[in-house]
Amino acid sequence: MSAWKKHEVFEKNSFILLVGILVMVAIGGLVEIAPLFYLKSTIEKTEGMRPYTPLELAGRNIYIREGCYTCHSQMVRPMRDELERYGHYSLAAESMFDHPFQWGSKRTGPDLARVGNKYSDDWHVEHLIDPRSVVPASIMPGYPFLAENKLNGRDIQAELSVNTIIGVPYTDEQIESAATDLLGQAMPDTDAAYEFEERWPTATIRDFDGNPGEVTEMDALVAYLQVLGTMVDFSIYDNKANAR
Ligand code: HEC
Repeated sequence: MSAWKKHEVFEKNSFILLVGILVMVAIGGLVEIAPLFYLKSTIEKTEGMRPYTPLELAGRNIYIREGCYTCHSQMVRPMRDELERYGHYSLAAESMFDHPFQWGSKRTGPDLARVGNKYSDDWHVEHLIDPRSVVPASIMPGYPFLAENKLNGRDIQAELSVNTIIGVPYTDEQIESAATDLLGQAMPDTDAAYEFEERWPTATIRDFDGNPGEVTEMDALVAYLQVLGTMVDFSIYDNKANAR
């Protein structure tokens, strides 16, 4: 039997062929998967990324609760039309603290990965209460109740704590003070705000919903929207690209 004829065994016996296929696929799978277990991280460390503050995290929960992800994605893909419309494509590191991530698969509305700092807080509040008041042709539903619902901080400490189990680096101090920090970020010039600033030096303290008397769900959601895509300073990368 010449060497060329040896595969006749496989071709004439479907069971042996099946075993052969399984062996080959297993080798291919191992080559792809095994190295991932030895890599420390598949996500490149990126300067500027920090975990969400309690207020931003609460806003993110409201975003999920209200199903904003059914109409909005949060991932700018590296294609020219997307770059021109939304800005720098999304980096893996930008969703490293998102559990679960909000990349989404449906764009009835625009991508929101870089919506932070694009509009004023007032614009967001108006838009969320009644989208048609600022974008006449909008088909987005209104969420006026967010401005009236007092923000519930009952679970926020547990929430931060659970996030540490899946790798978000909250400090013990940040977890302990989660309930006061939740309010402090939206109450400028109060003791709570000064304390918040010490624990979260790079976060913004503002009255996000334009109602200084109360911390509402609107405060949380706007704080979340305004931080999306703003943590990494892309001007550094763009300047490098220009210098080339
Ligand atoms: C039924 C689909 C739908 C849902 C649900 C929805 N949106 Fe929208 N959204 C849109 C559409 C369409 C637009 C574009 C028109 C406009 O600006 O209102 C939009 C626009 C936006 C914009 C402005 C984006 C930009 O770059 O101009 C923001 C911010 C936004 N939505 C936030 C939210 C949030 C937060 C929620 C959940 C509370 C939400 N949306 C739920 C459809 C939706």
